[in-house]
Parts: sequence; C-alpha cells; structure tokens
Amino acid sequence: MRPHITLHTASDFQSMRCAGSLAARTLDFITPHVTIGCNTGDLDRLCEEYIRAHDAIPAPLHYRGFPKATCISVNHVVCHGIPNDAKILHEGDIANIDVTVILDGWHGDSSRMYWVGDKVSVAAERLTRITHESLLAGIEAVRPGNTTGDIGAAIQRHAEKGGAQVVRDFCGHGIGRSFHEAPNILHYGKAGEGLELRCGMIFTIEPMINQGKAQVKVLPDGWTAVTRDRKLSAQFEHTLGVVDGGCEVFTLSPRGWHNPPYAV
Ligand code: MF3
Ligand code: CO
Ligand code: CO
Repeated sequence: MRPHITLHTASDFQSMRCAGSLAARTLDFITPHVTIGCNTGDLDRLCEEYIRAHDAIPAPLHYRGFPKATCISVNHVVCHGIPNDAKILHEGDIANIDVTVILDGWHGDSSRMYWVGDKVSVAAERLTRITHESLLAGIEAVRPGNTTGDIGAAIQRHAEKGGAQVVRDFCGHGIGRSFHEAPNILHYGKAGEGLELRCGMIFTIEPMINQGKAQVKVLPDGWTAVTRDRKLSAQFEHTLGVVDGGCEVFTLSPRGWHNPPYAV
C-alpha cells in the first residue's frame, strides 16, 4: 500500500516556520550551557523550561513512554539517549541534543552536535564535520522531481567518502501536525529510487553517522541506541519543506550556530 503523504499549504508552511524556529532557538539557547561538568538532566530541564516559556510543549515527553523532554546522546550513543542527572559531560565528549517542540499543534524537530570543552579529538572533530556535511548533501538533493533515494544516496556517498558509515536502523520522517508520519527518509540508498518528492511535502533529514561499523543495539531501557563497536556516532537534524526548485529549511539557527565550534 502507498502511504498517504500530506502536501501542505502556504499557511501550514507558516506554522512550520514558527515551530522550526523555536526548535532552532532552543538549540541556540542551550549552547552556552553545554560545559565540562554539566549533566544531561540539567540540560534537559533547561530546554524544557525554555520550550514551555515559549508556549510550546516538548514532543518527546511521554511519547511512546519516553520519559524526558529531549534526547541527549553522548559519544557512542547513536540516538534517543535519556537525559539523566548522573550523566556528567567530560572534556572531549561529543553530544547530540535533539529537540522537538509542538507549537500551536505543529512539530519542529532539530538536533545538533556539541563539543564539551575545546579538547575534542581530531577523530571526533572529523566525524562531526562529515556528519554535518552529509546532512547538507542530503538537503541539496531535495527538490520536486527528485526522489527520497536521491537524498539517501547523497548522504551515504558523502559519509562513506569520509570513511564513515550510515546507521540503517533509524530514518528521517514526515512531520507536521504529527511527530512521525510518512514518508520515511532513509539516509542511504540509490539515486532515483524511493518516492518522488513533491511541493508541499514536509519531513526531517537526520543522518546518524558512525566512525566505525554501522551496527547499533538498543540498551535494556528500551530507548538508548549505541554503536555495537562502541566507537563514536554523530547526528544532525533539520526539518524542511519541499518548494519549487528546492526546499525551505525550517530549523536554521538564527545565530548561525549550524555546527561546532560555536562562537559563543
Ligand atoms: N526527535 C527524535 C527524532 O528525530 C525522536 C525522538 S522520539 C523520543 O525523530 F521518544 F525518543 F523522544
Ligand atoms: Co526527527
Ligand atoms: Co529529532
């Protein structure tokens, strides 16, 4: 069966601009708080307060039983890390903070990598850069007439050119009035395959890229996904809408804090 894919109106796009902007501003807001010795429980609470102070709701909280407002995934954690007061960030750690807000019924979903202190390893720095570039390569492939396979192929090509591997177990997703809907956006694949992109589609692209092998496992908490080889993983995510000739990214940082190091 072909999944139903919503083609959104200009007024839906306006709502998504507002939701996407709030997700991006939350990621900007948290940036100076990501410091040596902080814990991910505090970072989560700060994000939740910021989101609620802007009349929005953190979408992950109670979503399919997820217990916190954000996902914070450190080092070999691939995604869906559960914030925790006991999880202290140390110099040289790399962390992904993934924020999804619901504003006036619309979802804005974005994540970025953060470096803890300024002594991140060359390998971690390189993985972060390749992952952000892979997301940008995927975004470049978004235009009406292209396919979801074109997006995946562009991401996979860039990641593998850099000697890294694309995680297969999680994908980008349609988004809007609901958190996760059709279509699935795979971060690997073949050009020309998959579903044709059309004006008005809204979805995320959120590649998880591993330094070592692509394989992941989910810990007994039912959420935390880690690399099987315990090597590093990185991820960036944007929410965007397909428009004539390309796309509009709803979750760009107003401060230009797209990838680290952030000039705080
Ligand atoms: N924000 C994540 C995504 O990009 C989803 C998190 S679901 C949660 O799709 F339940 F773990 F929060
Ligand atoms: Co997402
Ligand atoms: Co997300």
